[in-house]
Parts: sequence; structure tokens; C-alpha cells
Amino acid sequence: MALKRRLCLITGASAGIGAEFARQYAALGWNLVLTARRADRLEALAAELRAEHGVEVTVMAEDLADPGAPARIVAALAGRALEVDALVNNAGYGLPGTFFSTKWEDQAAFLQVLYTAPVELTHRLLPGMAARRFGRIINVASLAGYAPGSAGHTLYASVKTGMIKFSESINAECSALGQTDIHCCALCPGFTWSEFHDVNGTRSETDKMPKWMWMEAAPVVKAGIDAVNRGQPVIVPGLANKVLATLTRLLPEPMVRAIAGSQSSRYRRMD
Ligand SMILES: NC(=O)c1ccc[n+]([C@@H]2O[C@H](COP(=O)([O-])OP(=O)(O)OC[C@H]3O[C@@H](n4cnc5c(N)ncnc54)[C@H](OP(=O)(O)O)[C@@H]3O)[C@@H](O)[C@H]2O)c1
Repeated sequence: MALKRRLCLITGASAGIGAEFARQYAALGWNLVLTARRADRLEALAAELRAEHGVEVTVMAEDLADPGAPARIVAALAGRALEVDALVNNAGYGLPGTFFSTKWEDQAAFLQVLYTAPVELTHRLLPGMAARRFGRIINVASLAGYAPGSAGHTLYASVKTGMIKFSESINAECSALGQTDIHCCALCPGFTWSEFHDVNGTRSETDKMPKWMWMEAAPVVKAGIDAVNRGQPVIVPGLANKVLATLTRLLPEPMVRAIAGSQSSRYRRMD
């Protein structure tokens, strides 16, 4: 009898890190559910992965800024009898400008996409994982979650810090409840090649950042998958990022704040 393939739901799978998660889970033989707003991109990726790996790929076009989206996704999964074994909360973007210059509606949508939707998807999908006694949850946070908050892109660092703490709590709760094969991990990339900086309009600034600070999406994603399988609650991929994360803990706080402030002003837009 053929073994049932495991299934991974990936948000923000139409580009960058999310598309790379889809490629790596497909290469591992997992079936996929891909979601993002751009259905054409998702369909093209789905066709590529079905042909290359023989896996089943379901596409669900959704805008996670819509508060009804997570419930709709979970209902659609149930309607197709699809049981999610792994959830990758990856969809995200940067919101340029200051808290003064941005509209509340844009900040609220940002919180919805980058914080509420991942937390809600986790809440809705965890019971099924618990019943089947297996689950993997990867929350794509950021190295920014380690650094002090700085001017511009105001909520980005706080949301990413929140995703780190949330992942640690879920991982600890699963373990405390005897769910020894459900793991949750915050993946904290630094600068990663994707469409992120094109979308938020900072490409010309970030292109000036030294090349050693950048990683390809593939090793970032592999680090996340390996870490969650080990039961590690937080992973910072890459040596340079690990050193930077460690320095934020070892150096005196005022020094870290000053360095983070001057560095982030090189690429964070205030307009
Ligand atoms: N690249 C970096 O340097 C970097 C560093 C640290 C952390 N990260 C984090 O990595 C994650 C992935 O970013 P990326 O670098 O891969 O950027 P990306 O190439 O721009 O991809 C972002 C993905 O998020 C989706 N998305 C954006 N808004 C959405 C919405 N309202 N509803 C549904 N999906 C939405 C996009 O799909 P559609 O546009 O088709 O909806 C796209 O698939 C983000 O959480 C980001 O914060 C990135």
C-alpha cells in the first residue's frame, strides 16, 4: 500500500522565500497547498512542482489582509479533506514610512497579514495536528526581531519579535502537553534575495548593503526545515546573521541601539 504523502500549507508562496519552501517540501515528496494573492504565479509554480516531483499541489488565491481569509482557507481545506501536517507562515512585506506618515488602514492590514493571520492559521490548524500527533509550524520572522526598533517601517521589528515569542510559546506548549512530534520554529533571516525589497521600494538602498550580509533563499529555507524537524524554537540562518544576532545580546544596549539606528537608516524609508 502506498504511503500517504504529508501535506504542507505555505502562505506567500508566489515569490521569494515562500516559493523556495514550496520547491524544497515538494522535493521531499510532500503534497502542497499554496496561497498568496497572485493566482497566476501560484498556478505556474504548482504546474512546475507537479511535473518535477509528482506531488499534488492545490492553489488557493487569498488576500491575508482580509480578516476572513484564514477561516476561508481552513474551511476550503476541510471541504477537500486535506489534512495539514506542516504550516509555513511566510507571507509578508515591509511598510515604508513613519507611524506619522502612514494611514491606520495600512498599519491594520500590515498587522493582519504579518501577525493575526499566521496566529489564526496556527490556532485553527493545531487541533488537527494534535489529533494526528504530528505537526510542523515554521513562522518566518526576521533578524529584525532581534534588533532594537528603529525609525521607519515602524511595526516591522515588533511584529517579527512577536512571531519569535509566539513560536517559542507554541513549541513549549506542545512539549508541555506531551505533543512530542509537534514543533514550532521561528525562522529569522537577514537580508535574503527575493522580491521583498522591490515590493517595498528600497532596492536601490539595500543594493548598497555589503554582499556578505545577503543569503540566497535556498539555504535560509533549508535551515528552517532542518530546525523545525529538530524541535528548535528559533533559528537564525547563516554565519553572518548568527554573529549579528549574538552581538545584539552581548554588546551594551545603548551601543546596539546606536548601531541599529544608523544602519537601518541606510535602507529604511521614512517618506
Ligand atoms: N527578503 C528578506 O530580506 C527578508 C528578511 C527577513 C525576513 N523576511 C520575511 O520573509 C517573508 C517572505 O518574504 P520574501 O522575502 O520572500 O518577499 P517576497 O519575495 O516579496 O514574497 C512575499 C510573499 O508574500 C505574499 N504576500 C504579501 N502580501 C500578501 C497578502 N496581503 N496576502 C497574501 N499574501 C501576501 C506575496 O504574494 P502576493 O503578492 O502574490 O500576494 C509573496 O508571495 C516575509 O514574512 C518577510 O518579512 C524577508
